[in-house]
Amino acid sequence: MFYKNHDFSYNKIMKIENIEFKNNLILAPMAGVTDVGFKYVAINNGADCAVSEMVSAKALKYNNKKTLDLLCTAPNEKIKIVQIFGSDPKIMASIIKSKHLKDFDIIDINMGCPAPKIVKNGEGCALMKNIKLAEEIITACVNATAKPITVKFRSGWDDESVNAVEFAKMCERAGAKAITIHGRTREQFYGGCVNLDIIKQVKQAVNIPVIGNGDVYDSDSFKHMMEYTNCDAVMVGRATLGKPWVFAEILNIKKNASDFENICDHINILSKYYPENFIVKHMRKHMLWYIKGFRNANAVKAKVSVCNKVEDMINAVRPLFMEN
Ligand SMILES: Cc1cc2nc3c(=O)[nH]c(=O)nc-3n(C[C@H](O)[C@H](O)[C@H](O)COP(=O)(O)O)c2cc1C
Repeated sequence: MFYKNHDFSYNKIMKIENIEFKNNLILAPMAGVTDVGFKYVAINNGADCAVSEMVSAKALKYNNKKTLDLLCTAPNEKIKIVQIFGSDPKIMASIIKSKHLKDFDIIDINMGCPAPKIVKNGEGCALMKNIKLAEEIITACVNATAKPITVKFRSGWDDESVNAVEFAKMCERAGAKAITIHGRTREQFYGGCVNLDIIKQVKQAVNIPVIGNGDVYDSDSFKHMMEYTNCDAVMVGRATLGKPWVFAEILNIKKNASDFENICDHINILSKYYPENFIVKHMRKHMLWYIKGFRNANAVKAKVSVCNKVEDMINAVRPLFMEN
């Protein structure tokens, strides 16, 4: 039994090649959200690891500074995972071989992003409609490195074309070492309910580890995802917004620090990598998530939105956390 403090015992440990996971919990990649400080707090509170937000292989090819800035890893990241997206097998393979990704242990390929600006280029979830190209991409990436290549995708494009099982088998055949499946179609975006049956079917269809994703936000939903689908690990996304320490709650373990201290950690780690003007702008949305639901949040919200200094931002939210 690994979840000592948990009300359900679960005696499997996910392994991707020789990389071992402890709690079978992963912070999902979220563009504009899962920055280095956010990843740090999630891992300090029980996540085994985090997947970087998706980065464009093409942008890396052209050494785009903003994209390169997304590749920071936190000091507590023992398992470093980067997610790339693109539709050109040659570019994807060359990026995997490049110095940009040398620090990462696992390379994940995004084949699930529903955003119009991505799918209109034949990238992200559009690849679920083009299995031949998806297979070429995975094969090229697998041949480019000895590191494990993993793939994240959805249940399918729309209700009429749910093809996750076929897609998962293709990923395995092409050499992917694990897959993550978000149990929604592209058409659903983030609406409606996650389809756990499709995750269960995918798990039954392949021999590589399957990471279940969608609507896990607490102990019960984690337990249900693991037990119902028999998946090997769970990836958590939106439940971490304003609460990157949610992993401690999911695992029923003690948080590593108070919420306010975790918020300060988030910012302190960012300040090791980025200039203050970037952090202030970037942290606004995080701060609004952090203070959501507090009684006096509105007045603080207004203050946070006009701060130009990190210190002012921290001082603006501090009273809320001291009161509660
Ligand atoms: C703001 C936001 C950004 C996201 N960015 C990415 C991304 O860069 N790559 C990716 O594979 N999925 C991305 N996702 C999808 C999540 O990783 C996850 O699959 C989805 O939110 C479902 O999990 P959840 O129900 O736990 O949130 C994003 C989701 C959100 C809400």
